[in-house]
Amino acid sequence: MRTEQPTTIHLTDYKQPDYLIDETHLTFELFEDHALVHSRLAMRVNADGEGALPPLVLHGQELMLQSVKLDDQSLAADAYQVDENSLTLQPVAREFELAITTRIEPQNNTALEGLYKSGGMFCTQCEAEGFRKITYYLDRPDVMSRFTTTVMAKRDAYPVLLSNGNLITSGEHEGGRHWATWEDPFPKPAYLFALVAGDLYRIDDSFTTMSGREVELRIYVEPENREQCGHAMDSLKRSMRWDEDVYGREYDLDIFMIVAVNDFNMGAMENKGLNIFNSSCVLAHPDTATDAAFQRVEAVVAHEYFHNWSGNRVTCRDWFQLSLKEGFTVFRDAEFNADMNSRTVKRIEDVTFLRANQFAEDAGPMAHPVRPDSFIEISNFYTLTIYEKGAEVVRMLHTLLGAERFRKGTDLYFDRHDGQAVTCDDFIAALEDANGVDFTQFKRWYSQAGTPVLQIDSRYDAATSTFQLLCRQSCPATPGQPEKQPFVIPMRMALLDGEGREMPLQLAGEDQGRGTETVLAVTEAEQLFVFENVTEEPLPSLLREFSAPVKLVYPYSRDDRVFLAMHDPDGFNRWEAAQSLAVDVLQGLIQIHQAGRPLLLDQRLLEVHRAVLEDTALDAAMVAEILRLPSEAYLIELAEVADVDAIHHVREWVRRELATGLTEVMWTRFRQLGDDGSSYSADAESMARRSLRNTLLGYLMLTESSESLSACVQQFVEAGNMTDRQAALVALVNSPHEQQKQAALDEFAQRWSDYPLVMDQWFGIQASSPLPGGLERVQALMSHAAFNIRNPNKVRAVIGAFANQNLANFHRADGEGYRFVADQIIELNRLNPQIASRMLTPLTRWRKFDASRQALMKAELTRILACEDLSADVYEVVSKSLA
Ligand code: ARG
Ligand code: ZN
Repeated sequence: MRTEQPTTIHLTDYKQPDYLIDETHLTFELFEDHALVHSRLAMRVNADGEGALPPLVLHGQELMLQSVKLDDQSLAADAYQVDENSLTLQPVAREFELAITTRIEPQNNTALEGLYKSGGMFCTQCEAEGFRKITYYLDRPDVMSRFTTTVMAKRDAYPVLLSNGNLITSGEHEGGRHWATWEDPFPKPAYLFALVAGDLYRIDDSFTTMSGREVELRIYVEPENREQCGHAMDSLKRSMRWDEDVYGREYDLDIFMIVAVNDFNMGAMENKGLNIFNSSCVLAHPDTATDAAFQRVEAVVAHEYFHNWSGNRVTCRDWFQLSLKEGFTVFRDAEFNADMNSRTVKRIEDVTFLRANQFAEDAGPMAHPVRPDSFIEISNFYTLTIYEKGAEVVRMLHTLLGAERFRKGTDLYFDRHDGQAVTCDDFIAALEDANGVDFTQFKRWYSQAGTPVLQIDSRYDAATSTFQLLCRQSCPATPGQPEKQPFVIPMRMALLDGEGREMPLQLAGEDQGRGTETVLAVTEAEQLFVFENVTEEPLPSLLREFSAPVKLVYPYSRDDRVFLAMHDPDGFNRWEAAQSLAVDVLQGLIQIHQAGRPLLLDQRLLEVHRAVLEDTALDAAMVAEILRLPSEAYLIELAEVADVDAIHHVREWVRRELATGLTEVMWTRFRQLGDDGSSYSADAESMARRSLRNTLLGYLMLTESSESLSACVQQFVEAGNMTDRQAALVALVNSPHEQQKQAALDEFAQRWSDYPLVMDQWFGIQASSPLPGGLERVQALMSHAAFNIRNPNKVRAVIGAFANQNLANFHRADGEGYRFVADQIIELNRLNPQIASRMLTPLTRWRKFDASRQALMKAELTRILACEDLSADVYEVVSKSLA
């Protein structure tokens, strides 16, 4: 057990920095066994007048301090104090220059935070608080400084030397060493600093901005990956154009660089002018990457690029404001994707993800508001709530204002705060001031955690031709927040007549009608909306586009859901109706299964699926989304006490019933869709076709016919792209055909052994296979030559996939799944606390399960908590989840 508890940091304790850093001059001398970092900081006190100067406390961790100079005078060791987290000294002038040299060991940095080595290259990750592992500094986002950086290294091993901004000079040293100096003209916080040194291949392109400036675009990758950068480059150019068109935001430097690294804790990082990416978010080639990977590359490239304005030009005052840049930027990348592909499908994907994952976070021990009040380790707050729920909050503002007024608001925000470090309140104030609106109540979305429940009941009165919607909202208690105030819930809706047509909307007390679709603002705990001139009893189509991140409860019958699934003119709600019908059917069957009674499928679900399959006018991607049953994770989230075995059993049983009942129409559609042969395109229509075809292949394999097996094997062998090949492999791995399965896995591993990202897929497919014996398979994968616990992508592909996607095996009744994951967390805690902490999430959800599993999960959490040298990251999550 750790003796000293890490400290909690509170938003209410925020204080302006005592000192500012106008200029930061860095020189890095990189060697194989250490690096020397020389900094020269032009500093001044952050106060007017003549008052006594406060002590200067610089952040620093895991540094070997070599020297400190104040205005060129070396300080004696008794002139400053150093502890585990800081360097303190007493300035004597209001303005001064501080020069510090530290020694660090990037080659031993397994936490991948600060300066570290990935493969043969040096790279950095400084957000949120990694810069303090490089040198002593005011490592907080409200200290913004102009950086000049010189990098020195051996020329043959590190021909490419990069940092933020523009290359100023470079040259040779004796002994085969060389150097390059970069200057970033834009003041920035240290978290946006980056450095790269390596032997990298460069792909060049260019972009002409809206004002006619020419920007050089460069992607740097390891030479063997040079053929896999086209999609990232194309996505970058489309992002740059889109941000000009939609937000009026132009790129501001003459050069924009992306570097791909294999070892990275997250997806990517928006360092000014020098984005560093997990290679999984850059590399994409049809032979090696699936459509999902192509989509992810596009999304992450766009996300990091958009940060140049929403994050870099206007940054966060403190880390409590993280969602200011992340929520807004996720909203921006989602809209970009919607404009590039299918808006409805993108929304379905995002809502599915949010409900299965963020809702669970909101209901768990780490629940926190979009703007948290406190944290122990900020790395733990790069969460689904900050990112995805934060994006939903921005989306609601967009919905309430409409596109045009929202744009007026963001124009004012960027204009007013360019070059500043600001708060979520400043963002809201800009939207308010630009439009003369008041978002005081709306701001509760930033301060209150938890997923609100919106319960709606209706009453039709034929005599007065009125239709009433009674809306009631509530929000469950979350840690530290027993009571909640009502939210502002924008609820997009329509009323449908017996033919499924939208009816005119006339609200009582309003002069003007509202057309046939409107957004109601639900602001009270209980609120009545009365529609007039409603000539027949309507069926309401509620919360269209998922216009607020809430749980909607309305007493739809199964027939209502069938009707909406077939007739709602709104694509999103058509999917939602089919989905909620499936949820209802599955939940009913789970109860029947638990009671030990035989299962019988409600044929209405089958008929909806049949109708959708036969509707060739419907976007194929939509069909695929409707056919995909609600995930086990979502069914667990919805359950009071989740019976994992029953959920898994019943869901698989329904899939098999659908496959058996719809075999013929599935084959017809499967054949109609055809394969791609050797031509591949990453456009939305082709991806939609592959998505549906592979969904059907998965179903058809459940019929266990020789026909489906040979179609699957044939697709695996002949596929002209990784999407189709991988889908066939998944179907084989989850089938009982041991021989074909093993042959395919072996062939795949052999063919792609030199491609780490493809091997990640190979690991992930096996680790998530729900067939019995999953733990033993995963243990075997851990000793495979291509597995490496120091590489986060491998950890996610094996341990992460097992704990998050293989629920039947992870939750096996004897607790061995939990024990295995806990063992890995204990190992990772020493190596990489951020990744260790991520892997904890499934164990923290223990309250969802039966008493015996609860005890087993808690026992593992307790065992972790008792470990020596627990990182702050792991300590925070474990202690909060046991509290
Ligand atoms: N700001 C980055 C992004 O969302 C992610 C930050 C990475 N943080 C980390 N602790 N590795 O684009
Ligand atoms: Zn981001």
